[in-house]
Amino acid sequence: MEFNQVVMSRRSVFKFQPKALVVDDIYPLIEAAVMAPNHRLTQPWRFIWLGKQTQASLAEYYGEAKAAKAMAADASVHERIKNKAVDKFLAVPAILLVVCRLDRQPVIREEDLAATHCAIQNLLLAATDKGLGAQWSTNPMIYETEVMAEVGVDTSKERCCAMIYMGYPEVIPPAPPRKSAQECLTLLP
Ligand SMILES: Cc1cc2nc3c(=O)[nH]c(=O)nc-3n(C[C@H](O)[C@H](O)[C@H](O)COP(=O)(O)O)c2cc1C
Repeated sequence: MEFNQVVMSRRSVFKFQPKALVVDDIYPLIEAAVMAPNHRLTQPWRFIWLGKQTQASLAEYYGEAKAAKAMAADASVHERIKNKAVDKFLAVPAILLVVCRLDRQPVIREEDLAATHCAIQNLLLAATDKGLGAQWSTNPMIYETEVMAEVGVDTSKERCCAMIYMGYPEVIPPAPPRKSAQECLTLLP
């Protein structure tokens, strides 16, 4: 795809075909991600591919959190909400976590997080170019120390910046409207 077409057609995709992805589909996306600008070449990122066993384990956390949030007094309602959420999480064909090392120095830490966010955008654009759909999610699980420990992320040293849901798109949503370039640009004399 031509560059501008990739940028303009990238969308957050929520509905995927049931077709599975394999880890070999992911390497080209990571190759694009790691070309992101990063000050002092700190390369602060790493990526975690969730196997089906880990996805199932996280689905349990997700379902429980959704049901707890709904505060259903009735146990059967709690179970129904949980099961629906578990099924939704399990239906995602592939999940990749993008993790940033947290430097002790605040400026480096901030720049490393910025670089990791650039890497995520590269990854999303590469996915679009390959005909894949993806969604950048900040599912509350990424802030849960216990859940992150389960995927090998020590939240005192690293931050999970994104849970990327991926697959072949079933539906590509229309682009939500954006401010115009004129609205965003300040012209100084
Ligand atoms: C830092 C960040 C976190 C996001 N977290 C979520 C999320 O948790 N759930 C979600 O549905 N979308 C999430 N998104 C996607 C945005 O909702 C989406 O980009 C926005 O609605 C614009 O749609 P588009 O990506 O199709 O252009 C996130 C995007 C960013 C940059």
